[in-house]
Amino acid sequence: MKKKLVVLSGAGVSAESGISTFRDSDGLWENYNVMEVASIEGWYQNPELVIDFYNQRRTQLANVEPNDAHKLIAELEQYFDVTVITQNVDDLHERSGSTQIIHLHGELTKVCSDDRKKHVEDIGYETFAFGDLAPDGQLLRPFIVWFGEDVPLIHQAAEIVAQADIIIVIGTSLNVYPAAGLLYSAKRDAQIYVIDPKEVQPISRQVHFIKEKATVGMKQLLSEPGFL
Ligand code: OAD
Repeated sequence: MKKKLVVLSGAGVSAESGISTFRDSDGLWENYNVMEVASIEGWYQNPELVIDFYNQRRTQLANVEPNDAHKLIAELEQYFDVTVITQNVDDLHERSGSTQIIHLHGELTKVCSDDRKKHVEDIGYETFAFGDLAPDGQLLRPFIVWFGEDVPLIHQAAEIVAQADIIIVIGTSLNVYPAAGLLYSAKRDAQIYVIDPKEVQPISRQVHFIKEKATVGMKQLLSEPGFL
């Protein structure tokens, strides 16, 4: 039976595809007020601004490609039973061939009715406007988990992390909870690899740190003796 491997990814895995991270210098949160465009309060205060922000992200997504890190993560499925648990709202893991993906913070290519429950719809890379309605009559909104909202998939994700033999944490600053707390669910003897060009928040576990960009780090990890 294949070993269970979890990839816990964040914005850094898509950085080399040309999508800005959030907290690096020149990151998205340097140019935008996070509470205006990515919180439930922001949505109530200025929905046009929020929709415009995500319309821009969606348009950008149509014009970027998965990089070698996404591709190598997809190739891991040849050797392991892989689940990608991502904080990213882009679809680059899907486009590079990963088949089991949990999007903790939602998906850019989808919209949903305002209560986030009744209606979810794939709009691909199209834009939409404030006032567009779902078939159930509710306002359409981006299918994104904003600050101030619960993270519906967190319990499912924690159960999968709890079963993992190997965990690769890649391209996340581990600043945002509850995603950042997922490692606490890991088995005591799980092997944990962290790939990031910068020091990541202290992780209270023994980890194997690969201080490289995602593409280089993934290549290095796959060539480590005994990893595959
Ligand atoms: P951050 O911007 O907080 O962290 C990005 C991480 O990627 C940092 O540790 C960088 O050092 C690293 N990094 C930068 N370039 C890299 C590269 N080429 N290869 C590998 N790593 C690189 O992004 P996240 O941790 O993903 O949520 O942020 C978590 C959440 O905060 C996001 O999902 C988003 C944001 O607010 C919402 O909007 C709800």
